[in-house]
Amino acid sequence: VRIPLDRDADLPLFHQVERWLRDSIAAGELPAGTRLPSTRALADDLGVSRITIANAYAELEADGLLLGRPGSGSYVAPASQVPISEVDRAQPWPLWQLDLGAPAAPPDEASEHPPARPDRISFTGVADPRHFPIKEFARTVADVLRSDGVEAVGYGTFDSGYPPLRSTVAQLLASQGIHTRPQQVVITSGSHQALAIACQVLLRPGNAVLVEQPTYDLALELFRELGLKVVGAPVDQDGLRVDLVEPLLQQHHPKLIYTIPNFQNPTGACLSGSRRRHLLELSDRYNVPILEDDFAGDLRYDGRAQPAIKALDRRGQVLYIGTFSKLLMPGLRVGYLVADGPVLARLVAHKRVHDLTTSPLLQRVLDRYVTVGRYQAHLRRTTRRCRSRRDAVIEAARARLPAIALSVPRGGLFAWLELPPGMIARELLTLAREEGVDFAPGSRFFVEPSDGDGFVRLNFATRTPEEIDLGIQRLATALERAPSRRGRARGTRTRT
Ligand SMILES: Cc1ncc(COP(=O)(O)O)c(C=O)c1O
Repeated sequence: VRIPLDRDADLPLFHQVERWLRDSIAAGELPAGTRLPSTRALADDLGVSRITIANAYAELEADGLLLGRPGSGSYVAPASQVPISEVDRAQPWPLWQLDLGAPAAPPDEASEHPPARPDRISFTGVADPRHFPIKEFARTVADVLRSDGVEAVGYGTFDSGYPPLRSTVAQLLASQGIHTRPQQVVITSGSHQALAIACQVLLRPGNAVLVEQPTYDLALELFRELGLKVVGAPVDQDGLRVDLVEPLLQQHHPKLIYTIPNFQNPTGACLSGSRRRHLLELSDRYNVPILEDDFAGDLRYDGRAQPAIKALDRRGQVLYIGTFSKLLMPGLRVGYLVADGPVLARLVAHKRVHDLTTSPLLQRVLDRYVTVGRYQAHLRRTTRRCRSRRDAVIEAARARLPAIALSVPRGGLFAWLELPPGMIARELLTLAREEGVDFAPGSRFFVEPSDGDGFVRLNFATRTPEEIDLGIQRLATALERAPSRRGRARGTRTRT
């Protein structure tokens, strides 16, 4: 064993030996079961006293990293006995760590609430894992590995994505009325990455982004992390109040408008056709691109589909993003972005330098798995199932939560409830957890969290109608227990 020793260092020699062995064990260079040289042999090797080595071994034994076997020497202990963290927490963190400061993201409210009951009914999450097509997907993975071999697990090309999948996405979009060419499609690691790279290409820290208020919570976290100024415009039952957007454009000069026009997260509202045209017209007039996030647009239960804003775009004003997370499985981390013009090459270059490529294996598997016919059949089944869940949540809420205002979402995953005046969703969540039901408090979705205190978002798509009914019963009990402080001051409320 060649252990580099610095005889002039302040750190005693036995400590240097101990550190080196400790690091080598942690890095797996000395695997469990490795027999270390005897103290005499190692001392001779390193030109140090035997006591130096004995002290180093004793320290490692005391920490469970070495096992001393009388008469047969010292062995590296099995992994389970190796402490995971090598950091000595008694030491202060290095200055560069302290200089980083806390993350911009708000703390998770969940940590402030009682632990979840095992029989909890959670109205959070995005899709129902009980319906993930695991078996078919496993078969497709095996098929792809068999037929494409090492091609499937190489890097592929560091560009817009696997060409056949880009064509499949273009066909899927065409089946939903969005005509695009495969050359305009960039495959991304989830639509969240598409959102991130679009922001990183189009905005600089300090720039403003105009968003619906409330909006997708993780987009808000992303904007904060990027140092953007977030300007919120209210939402009603017809989506973003586009009539209020123009003064905000004049006042804040945003560099991007981020909108979720279909079954918005969190309100479930759908942007009307005339507002889509008006927003596009404003984006054109004020030279501000639109990022259209269509995360669940094809999950429609009733009403007529409105054209995507991208479908109305004749000049390349709109970047459109979509995902396979909601209809298939979020853990695939495959989404896509559609754009026209010079911005496309910038987005592709930006993605390449940040993550090289989205998993080439999963792109191939997804392309094999998602034929237009299969996707449409899956969409029909999912729509049927989620429509009955939407109906169940509305029926249960109307019957059991008379004091709550809610509007009927015509698609998507979410019901947005307005609490009685003065009731605070973050406080209600504590009681709800005790009753065995979970939801996302409205505060997560607002630029100023307290503005969302009067609202609750329920994801009904993850629960069966029976679970929904029980969950709403529990929520009703929590509401009965909640102190309703009439007249308590609260920020502006947006009726949906
Ligand atoms: C509105 C919206 N956009 C984007 C995403 C990101 O989805 P993914 O990155 O899984 O495609 C989500 C996830 O919940 C979402 O709700």
